[in-house]
Amino acid sequence: MITKQQLLELAKEHGTPLFVVDHDELRNNIAMFRKYLPRVTPFYAIKSNPMPEIVHTLYEEGASFDVASQPEFEVAVQNIRHLSEAEQREWIYNKIIYANTIKPMEMLEALDKYKLLVTYDNEEEIKKLKKYSPNSRAILRICVPNKGAVVELSSKFGAFPEECVDLVYKALDAGISVEGLSFHVGSQTTEFDNYTIALNLAADIFEQVAKRGYKKMHMLDLGGGYPAPYDESVKPFPVLAEVINKSLNALFPKEVFCLAESGRFMNATAGWSVSRINGRTVRGGKTRYYINDGAYHTYSGIIFDHQHCHVHSFKENAKLVECAVFGPTCDALDVISAHEQLPDDLQIGDLVYSDNMGAYSHASSTWFNGFPPAKVLHINLKK
Ligand SMILES: Cc1ncc(COP(=O)(O)O)c(C=O)c1O
Repeated sequence: MITKQQLLELAKEHGTPLFVVDHDELRNNIAMFRKYLPRVTPFYAIKSNPMPEIVHTLYEEGASFDVASQPEFEVAVQNIRHLSEAEQREWIYNKIIYANTIKPMEMLEALDKYKLLVTYDNEEEIKKLKKYSPNSRAILRICVPNKGAVVELSSKFGAFPEECVDLVYKALDAGISVEGLSFHVGSQTTEFDNYTIALNLAADIFEQVAKRGYKKMHMLDLGGGYPAPYDESVKPFPVLAEVINKSLNALFPKEVFCLAESGRFMNATAGWSVSRINGRTVRGGKTRYYINDGAYHTYSGIIFDHQHCHVHSFKENAKLVECAVFGPTCDALDVISAHEQLPDDLQIGDLVYSDNMGAYSHASSTWFNGFPPAKVLHINLKK
């Protein structure tokens, strides 16, 4: 793992704001996922951090991919352009899921030749599949409880359980092959029971569909949600894995292919950001720091991902007091933290850093106010 000293040296050499990606950490995370969830094939959710270097490292580790737009599809398949046309098709068939229940018509038309695995959750989408991508293979996304997830998704996506059997048969009637079911318990889930509830709901729908005659569903997509260890309150991954394995083995025969659309778990711990203090003042007795990265940039997860990002000083053994940290833009929304434990004697020009920044951070960075996204540095890339 990267040390504070290395981070400081990299920032001094390359300037700030800097976003550092440690590829050893990506490799460790996917290995850990496979070790503890041996029945579940990881499909890296590209949206969480679409940097081609990250996608390439995970490709080299044998990962599959969850894409949610045509550009994300392209980021994944640029790794296989050296293969023959037939090999590319086979790879896409086996290793890509287009996991956005609402799909643009042009994309469906353009990618139909790949017999893409796609998710859907409503009848209009079935009509679109029939018209624009009749060769696609469908996975019905069901709405499951997202209780306790930091990012809730069930208010927007997923068919209600009582609609599911009909939606499977409507797709079949339209000539679309239905491969299985998917769900998402919400990102950065804290309630592991949500997986148990979702797996039971899915098993029940598998059974009801089979009872009505269709017995060819053979895929179960457990979505994302696997939490990153942002702080001590996050229960360890092996504990969650045990909960999932127990239900999976009890409810689904070995022949059912299980996959997960994991994003955050793969990359959160691989990302670091380093910024420079560009301004400071004391108001109401509290020291305020203004740094050169913020909520419109690498810290955009504060807004879009409901994150609480922590900013740390490189100073060893300094006394910490409550300070405020702001980003560089003119918007008062650009607050990283109003209550951050930092030394109050940091000076203009000093560097600060944040860890666990790999997911939903740089991916949603903007150019607001003329400030470009942070410079990106990849370390521990395989030669
Ligand atoms: C459909 C879908 N799949 C996968 C993910 C990735 O989830 P996570 O980063 O929690 O693993 C998301 C995140 O929003 C999503 O919407």
